[in-house]
Amino acid sequence: MAFALPNPLPSSLLLLLLMMACSTSAQTYRNHSLGSSLTAQDDDSSWASPNGHFSFGFRRIENGGYLLAIWFSQIPKLTIVWSANGDDLAPRGSKVELTTDGQFELKDPEGKKIWGADVALSGVAYAAMLDSGNLVLATQNSEYLWESFKFPTDTILPTNTIDLGGKLVARYSETNYSNGRFQFSLQSDGSFVLQTIDFPLDSANSVYWSSETGQSGFQVVFNQSGSIYVAAKDGSILKTISPITKSTQDFYQRAILEYDGVFRHYAYPKRLNISSMSNPPDWTPSSNFIPINICRAITQDTGGGACGFNSYCKLGDDQRPRCICPEGYASIDPDDERKGCKANFIQQSCNESLPGKDHFYIQPMLNINWPRSDYEHFQGQTEDWCGNACLGDCFCALAIYGSNGVCWKKKFPLSNGRLDPREGAKALIKIRKDDSTFKPSGADSKKKDRSTLILVGSVLLGSSVFFNLLFLLAAFLAVFRFDYFKPKVVQRYPVMPGMNLRSFTYEELKKATNGFKEELGHGAFAIVYKGAVESDRGKPVAVKKLNNIVTQGDLEFKAEVSAIGRTNHKNLVQLLGFSNEGQHRLIVYEFMSRGSLANFLFGGSRPNWYQRIQIALGTARGLLYLHEECSTQIIHCDIKPQNILLDDSLTPRISDFGLAKLLKTDQTRTMTGIRGTKGYVAPEWFRNMPVTVKVDVYSFGILLLEIICCRKSFEADAQNEDQMILADWVYDCYKERKLDLSLGNDEEAMSDMKRVERYVMIAIWCIQEDPSLRPTMKKVIQMMEGTVEVPVPPNPSSFNRSI
Ligand SMILES: *[C@@H]1O[C@H](CO)[C@@H](O)[C@H](O)[C@H]1NC(C)=O
Ligand SMILES: *[C@@H]1O[C@H](CO)[C@@H](O)[C@H](O)[C@H]1NC(C)=O
Ligand SMILES: *[C@@H]1O[C@H](CO)[C@@H](O)[C@H](O)[C@H]1NC(C)=O
Ligand SMILES: *[C@@H]1O[C@H](CO)[C@@H](O)[C@H](O)[C@H]1NC(C)=O
Ligand SMILES: *[C@@H]1O[C@H](CO)[C@@H](O)[C@H](O)[C@H]1NC(C)=O
Repeated sequence: MAFALPNPLPSSLLLLLLMMACSTSAQTYRNHSLGSSLTAQDDDSSWASPNGHFSFGFRRIENGGYLLAIWFSQIPKLTIVWSANGDDLAPRGSKVELTTDGQFELKDPEGKKIWGADVALSGVAYAAMLDSGNLVLATQNSEYLWESFKFPTDTILPTNTIDLGGKLVARYSETNYSNGRFQFSLQSDGSFVLQTIDFPLDSANSVYWSSETGQSGFQVVFNQSGSIYVAAKDGSILKTISPITKSTQDFYQRAILEYDGVFRHYAYPKRLNISSMSNPPDWTPSSNFIPINICRAITQDTGGGACGFNSYCKLGDDQRPRCICPEGYASIDPDDERKGCKANFIQQSCNESLPGKDHFYIQPMLNINWPRSDYEHFQGQTEDWCGNACLGDCFCALAIYGSNGVCWKKKFPLSNGRLDPREGAKALIKIRKDDSTFKPSGADSKKKDRSTLILVGSVLLGSSVFFNLLFLLAAFLAVFRFDYFKPKVVQRYPVMPGMNLRSFTYEELKKATNGFKEELGHGAFAIVYKGAVESDRGKPVAVKKLNNIVTQGDLEFKAEVSAIGRTNHKNLVQLLGFSNEGQHRLIVYEFMSRGSLANFLFGGSRPNWYQRIQIALGTARGLLYLHEECSTQIIHCDIKPQNILLDDSLTPRISDFGLAKLLKTDQTRTMTGIRGTKGYVAPEWFRNMPVTVKVDVYSFGILLLEIICCRKSFEADAQNEDQMILADWVYDCYKERKLDLSLGNDEEAMSDMKRVERYVMIAIWCIQEDPSLRPTMKKVIQMMEGTVEVPVPPNPSSFNRSI
């Protein structure tokens, strides 16, 4: 069979293809004599191995061009095992040819050489794709003058060996086959090593794994039975890298140095009836991969480490490394996490006349370290001293505090970052307190993207003037429409002057939600649907359909929506638009990909303690903004984990604020109907007392306890009655100085007991029965950040708190 299955195909089509393949198989099996060639075009032509397991030919890579490659023919997911021109993709119409004088060359349509096989001697008579996956150029006597096995890219296959001086170079990313940042080589001293590369050059930097086989190492062997080892000259095994786990008879196998720097051995069942599967399996990695923990393995003097600069590396549950930005930082390129992170705030200035220290706070994160970025070192100090030393030093990016009183100051760019419990150190990260003055100007970069789009488009459409004009017109229209939604273009919003809110028609939203099909959640007042706004490049949105609006006039609705629309804070869900037609009242928000905090905290495995801290802090900042920093004070009235949503980077975003008025409940005076949710509702709702921002502080206190303990505020089936109401139980634990009992074996939290206690005390202050005793959100944040001491809280008294 002479083709690859790009995707699971309908079985009838598959059958047809199979028949076609069989009828042409007589040709594909043969030796390819001098003069044979393949052309890069849409219908993949390729040379198949006699057993049909491998193909050689061109593969189109996304929009980038064609890759001359060898791949597994029978596996739905494109699995390339060798490639010629990852750094220099070939345009359509390029040709690879075995010339009459025995050269094997890839040339573009103009005849410019892109790649050529380095054939040692003359006398090539034919080329053949062998059953093993080896492409060979051979003489009349079947001596191989060139083999793809001798020039591997990032993968080796069973029966492929690597000799002294041989190497594999990782690709740049999963789907970008150009040279990446890591290499595997068998050094002339006999050790097989993994090394980082001085990207974008190809010179080796530091070794992060070595077989330590010394002088006797001779070959890396992937033998016929599927075992990978370093062998001596006499063939004896010096070091096993990956033993036989699955038989090569029943499983396709490959070993690859992947773009993340890890060398893994994969298997895939051979005799699968893929046509009968709607969801065919993926390759299964063996548990023998090297290095075991790449986050810790790479520690180099220059270069970023396993991840990019200013980020840190964390081994996921699947044992694969992830590159994460610390709090206050964001990815330079969200599509390429190894490019590193940048601070989301203006860094401290060394200009003495500008206010410095007071504008920053310290965010501690446990077990994170950047071991090679220090410039000062102190001993016998407290954590507070260490944090303050960094705050007061404009060169200091962050400090690392070790439990033995050691304090290292670190400078930019931070490198070799890793999160690992064995670090035993605490990173004290310096972050600007109020970064609202600084908004990365996305507008400019978007504009640039668009003009490139036009340019690329015109070039692609090539020589036809007519088409170019057509394209430019279309592009102009597209740009015009995109601009329509941009905040800056004020005069285009007659409905809501001064805001980037859009008024939708009911029909538009019906279409955007596919007829209100996918429900994201619902409450007493509204149902939320997932949708996509076609006119905004299919941007995903959440559409909230309010169903309990009591006779609200047009004007009132608009006034309320515009109050919500005027808010702008990174910890709030952004309102995008609304619809107000007949009795339909709908509100359109940006879509939050990671769902609600309720799911995050209570669904499945316990999330990381530091992520939880960040979420608590972000939520507090969002609330502070609603209470004190936006133009009209907004009392949320329904703070609970279901109303805190999480975006891609797990930043908490408060949703549903500002709805209290829309729902015809008067916020500031006595209530007839209680808005809010059992368990989170402040006692004054039940009494004849005014409702103030302190109701939100109360709910936040309950939420904070839930975040700390990763447990719901009320659990009917708790182990015993004392534990049913979280607030009561935690207060008891706090009083008896046994807070660890309430943490449910959360080791990360338990190793940060000082903070746990501080946060619990803050929460207890927030849930005081007397609203005037509760702190403001500003005070809450200062206490959480550690800039203000937390006094010992009184008993909140359990009046009516919970259910
Ligand atoms: C390929 O050519 C070689 C040398 O001429 C010959 O020995 C071999 O049998 C040929 N293989 C096939 C499949 O035709
Ligand atoms: C692959 O990555 C390299 C390095 O960043 C880049 O220069 C190249 O354009 C990428 N290739 C494709 C096809 O995206
Ligand atoms: C491959 O190596 C393993 C040892 O790791 C050995 O048991 C097996 O017999 C070898 N297979 C072949 C075909 O040499
Ligand atoms: C593969 O599955 C299809 C659909 O279930 C079935 O019709 C076909 O006979 C199977 N082929 C083989 C070789 O088992
Ligand atoms: C320091 O900041 C002040 C106030 O912004 C400014 O006037 C001054 O020029 C700055 N000095 C330097 C050396 O940049």
